Amino acid sequence: MISPSILSADFTNIKRDFEIMNEGGVDFVHVDIMDGNYVPNISFGPSIVSQLRKLTTIDFDVHLMIENPENYIEDFVKAGANIITVHPDSTRHLNRTLNLIKSFGVKAGIVINPAENLNVLEYTLSDIDLLLIMSVNPGFGGQNFIKSSLTKIKKAREIIRENKSNCLIEVDGGIKLDNALEVFNSGADILVAGSAIFGSENPSEEIFKFKELLK
Ligand code: DX5
Ligand code: ZN
Repeated sequence: MISPSILSADFTNIKRDFEIMNEGGVDFVHVDIMDGNYVPNISFGPSIVSQLRKLTTIDFDVHLMIENPENYIEDFVKAGANIITVHPDSTRHLNRTLNLIKSFGVKAGIVINPAENLNVLEYTLSDIDLLLIMSVNPGFGGQNFIKSSLTKIKKAREIIRENKSNCLIEVDGGIKLDNALEVFNSGADILVAGSAIFGSENPSEEIFKFKELLK
């Protein structure tokens, strides 16, 4: 599955970029929320998300890169999030935060940064629908894919299989047409691609190529 990150979309022409995603049949829209505190960059908040919600019926996969995300879960649910992922080190009581997300009937996930191991899964796997593995350090689009992520994806796939879990693996950062298949074959279910799609001359052709590749 493919989840284009709108961080690299053209916000002066955002309707067009949503039409491209609608017509391209993408599986999710990846929405990156940054607070300039958890990560050294600022993107946008719930009011923008609720405006974008009007442009598509595709599920919003909302990646929160903010401190104390528990304070904003309800706002993002109201804005139209379908999946919400949080970084374990951004919230004081991870279990409580995951339960809060699910209490609104939306899917919950956790995000693992490049230098972090998968140990947190031991006591969270049964509570999550999605594991987001970062293959760049969170904060910016257009960075290079960190190779060691492949080993981590394989390990995560193994853990999920051993536990007979339905948790999906999503991989985020530096995914291009030339490494997508390797990431997919390592065990990813959903690939996020920002600059590869919206930084290209022809985003709809790029979406088509990703979909062909992952068939
Ligand atoms: C990085 C974000 C990513 C980013 C990916 O902090 O979480 O979703 O938009 O962008 P690319 O695909 O350009 O690496
Ligand atoms: Zn992201």
